[in-house]
Amino acid sequence: MTAEAGQVYIEDLGRHAGATVTVKGWLMNRRSSGKLHFLQVRDGTGVVQAVCFKGNLDAETFRRLDLLPLESSLEVTGLCKAEPRASGGFELDASGVRIHQEAEPYPIGKKEHGTGFLMEHRHLWLRSSRQHAVLRVRARVIKAIRDFLDERGFVCMDSPIFTPSACEGTTTLFPVDYFGETAYLTQSGQLYAEASAMAFGKVYCFGPTFRAEKSKTRRHLTEFWMVEPEVAFLEMDGLLDLIEEFIAYVVAQVLKDRRAELEVLERDISRLERVVRPFPRISYDQAVALLHEKGQAFAWGGDFGAPDETLISEHFDRPVLVHRYPAQVKAFYMKRDPADDRLALCVDVLAPEGYGEIVGGSERASDLAFLLEQIKAHQLPEETFRWYLDLRRYGSVPHAGFGLGVERTTAWICGVPHLRECIPYPRMLEKITP
Ligand code: 4AD
Ligand code: MG
Repeated sequence: MTAEAGQVYIEDLGRHAGATVTVKGWLMNRRSSGKLHFLQVRDGTGVVQAVCFKGNLDAETFRRLDLLPLESSLEVTGLCKAEPRASGGFELDASGVRIHQEAEPYPIGKKEHGTGFLMEHRHLWLRSSRQHAVLRVRARVIKAIRDFLDERGFVCMDSPIFTPSACEGTTTLFPVDYFGETAYLTQSGQLYAEASAMAFGKVYCFGPTFRAEKSKTRRHLTEFWMVEPEVAFLEMDGLLDLIEEFIAYVVAQVLKDRRAELEVLERDISRLERVVRPFPRISYDQAVALLHEKGQAFAWGGDFGAPDETLISEHFDRPVLVHRYPAQVKAFYMKRDPADDRLALCVDVLAPEGYGEIVGGSERASDLAFLLEQIKAHQLPEETFRWYLDLRRYGSVPHAGFGLGVERTTAWICGVPHLRECIPYPRMLEKITP
């Protein structure tokens, strides 16, 4: 990591033991006794304690430190010393402190705040150690996603965000005025990813997706990030293998590089360590039977609600792949199961511990006449799908893909119950600020 001259990031202090360094950051906490201030300073990469002896600082600075409000910005110069009892293993013996700005009284204190209050102060809440840990895990999840796909020859082909068509049903579309015509914010980049796969073989799109979810739940955002791999000539069994390998990889990378963050979150790491291949695979029919065994009333043919998904996932110690749902509860583009025409060749992955669906995927219908029929049956405007149907006219092939939601995956890995903590600036029903 690069830094300004003389500046050292807290995460790099280990390489500077015995040297005089400067740390630039914000005051996170302070303890004082007459001749001594202990400052907890954070710089975004970590937290370090600076020990300030009265005799080592000028009198005016020492006096100001006594009253310095939390989140004031400052830089501390001092000797970097190994200190086994300190959180990062080091502390600073301060020889100089420069105060950049004395903060106004900070609204987020040590006392418990309500979620509404914290959400209104999301721009500041991000500084707290728990939010910091969740969002560092999220960033690592995103890097793992890209590394996995890039290393396997997938080409990143981003799909547009303004679209004229609905991919995942017409009830959750956000319309926007596009020079006098109605366009929508994309619900999924999949249809374009299919076109990209016919040009590049293996592709993925990765970006924000939008759904006008009108219900308030822990699992729904109106803006969320989704990665959508799409592969030509991939069929159902290969799709299940790819999804399994992908999820196991992402979890392993987080375990390798973000253990400290998981500890801050008091995540039961042993539960994540169990997330290795193979994952259980059950059909929709078997999932329904499981629900009945557990005494849950559920009629064959419907989609699983959150309580159903929780009951199913609790039965397993790792993500479970539920495949072959009734086509009537799924999107128009899915291929039917040749063994049972009522079923779609699709899969949902349910995360353990009741975190719900993290992946939805399917083999795609490759037959032109069947797709046309489905577009009509779903009452979708044929005109806007003309280009999509071309893919079935010019060299149609079996193909498959899936979408993984970044925030749901992050919530599960972190053990955080609500998605609002798993994206920097959440967008939800009636929530658009900050
Ligand atoms: O199951 P979904 O709707 O699938 C699709 O959009 C397909 N077109 C993907 C594909 O095959 N390329 O959404 C995929 C995933 C879900 O499993 C979930 O993780 C996430 O996207 N997701 C949401 N995350 C947060 N808030 C919401 N409102 C979400 N809706 C879906
Ligand atoms: Mg789904």
